[in-house]
Amino acid sequence: MRIFIYPGSFDPMTNGHVDIIRRASGLCDLLIVAILSNRHKKTAFSADERVEMVQAALKNKKGLEVVRFDGLLVDLYRLKQASAVVRGLRSESDYRFEAEMAAANKILLPEYETCLLPSRIDLSFTSSSIVREVAAFGGNISRMVPKPIADFVAQRLSEKQDMPAEHIDLKGD
Ligand code: COA
Repeated sequence: MRIFIYPGSFDPMTNGHVDIIRRASGLCDLLIVAILSNRHKKTAFSADERVEMVQAALKNKKGLEVVRFDGLLVDLYRLKQASAVVRGLRSESDYRFEAEMAAANKILLPEYETCLLPSRIDLSFTSSSIVREVAAFGGNISRMVPKPIADFVAQRLSEKQDMPAEHIDLKGD
């Protein structure tokens, strides 16, 4: 069985991530979407919230598993007996980061492989931080993220609706 891992912070997951998941799952038998829950990385949404959002967005999709992980990606790779890690490439700067990460992980685990998928051109400017910023100022994010995630973020903001936009802080962890 060919197992791929798609790791990320998913803070929150965007349509760009979903497109990579859809395409990568066609290349393997099981795609593990691994959500980094790293105490050292500050995120707007808590790990529990990010897992909940990803599960809601991927509900009923076959051949997928959602896990939460802390620590090194190579340890998860070994544990899951994966064949490759999938990452999306939006730009040259993404490439630089991904090439460094791939090289470092290969030193840590020689059988580690990386599968880089170019982003769909219309999604190549989407990022989690743009989504957070648009949402914090009351903008419409429904074309940037899956509906369950737009609903989750709207709910989160409505709990803080008495605050002026500049004070709406999408913090969690
Ligand atoms: N579509 C849309 N956005 C994308 C994207 C795509 N296809 N691919 C990446 N992004 C964006 C995200 O929106 C996010 O944007 P932001 O910076 O504006 O918030 C950014 O790229 C990165 O987010 P994400 O894809 O969620 O991943 P990440 O870079 O946070 O994840 C890990 C990095 C988890 C893979 C990496 O830190 C890791 O492996 N950590 C574990 C520790 C370890 O083993 N380190 C390696 C030792 S070399």
